[in-house]
Amino acid sequence: MKPAQVLVLHGPNLNLLGVREPEVYGLVTLGEINERLMKLGEARGVSVVCFQSNSESDLVERVHKARDDHTGFIIVNPAAFTHTSVALRDALSAVAIPFIEVHLSNIHAREPFRRSSYFSDLAAGVITGLGAKGYELALVYALDFLGHKA
Ligand code: DQA
Repeated sequence: MKPAQVLVLHGPNLNLLGVREPEVYGLVTLGEINERLMKLGEARGVSVVCFQSNSESDLVERVHKARDDHTGFIIVNPAAFTHTSVALRDALSAVAIPFIEVHLSNIHAREPFRRSSYFSDLAAGVITGLGAKGYELALVYALDFLGHKA
């Protein structure tokens, strides 16, 4: 049987990391984040698949596809969809694959509308405000989780 893989989903505008409001989101690019995650996974023999889209429907479709591609864990930064998307929430709920919600910035220390998330109550955990490192910490958890399941 093919081993479980980890899917990393990035929502809208995260393709602009490195140039987008660096004082809030840092200088690390999305390519660099993905590279680090894939290397970390490789070291543990787990494939890490990264997907970014600015489109809600593409993200929903990608979550559906996770049912059939051996995805055992999802790491998701829904970006602005965190605060708006019942559709993406429902997709994650429908596939019933455990996930961690990650935010680069601390969403609780910013504008009030960012404090509410459609995902947090379904998530195995939430990491917010630790910058790009948050994805790596989430992946360490995911790899341990998959290891324990094997
Ligand atoms: C974000 C926080 C969201 O409020 C915002 O819309 C983003 C990025 C973060 O990673 O800090 O696009 O999810």
